[in-house]
Amino acid sequence: MWLVPPPGRVVVAVDDTGAVLGTANMYANRPGNGSHVASASYMVDPAHHGRGVGRALCEDSLTWARAAGFRAMVFNAVVETNVHAVRLYESLGFSILGTVPEGFHHPEKGYVGLHMLHRPL
Ligand SMILES: CC(C)(COP(=O)(O)OP(=O)(O)OC[C@H]1O[C@@H](n2cnc3c(N)ncnc32)[C@H](O)[C@@H]1OP(=O)(O)O)[C@@H](O)C(=O)NCCC(=O)NCCS
Repeated sequence: MWLVPPPGRVVVAVDDTGAVLGTANMYANRPGNGSHVASASYMVDPAHHGRGVGRALCEDSLTWARAAGFRAMVFNAVVETNVHAVRLYESLGFSILGTVPEGFHHPEKGYVGLHMLHRPL
């Protein structure tokens, strides 16, 4: 699922020793006439959260999407309780377009909203 085929792209973030700290994939959000909008996903080793790895991965994917000619990036499903992710994306220029009420069944918090975020490139 993670290793999307070209023209999508998958990257890892490494430290000075080459240890993998996190990864991102990036791709067209939709095929055909929706393929001018990009999307991406990120995951960082919990042992390295809060050190800027997620920010670096997100910035890298925005640079890739812009260079590849995409007109915008969207995140289709960001759980509203994922406050660090939402804050990170908003700080990089994304806006919450809307929220699917109770769109995600959180294992501890129950039914919570699912945001869609957008950033023009
Ligand atoms: C979301 C995720 C990719 C962010 O990666 P990260 O490397 O921790 O992010 P950064 O270090 O760049 O920090 C991003 C923001 O969150 C804050 N943050 C991240 N983890 C934190 C923690 N454990 N405690 C406090 N703040 C934290 C940072 O301070 C920063 O906020 P700021 O810019 O206002 O200071 C990472 O938490 C993750 O992999 N989560 C699980 C998978 C996931 O949710 N992916 C995204 C799905 S939409």
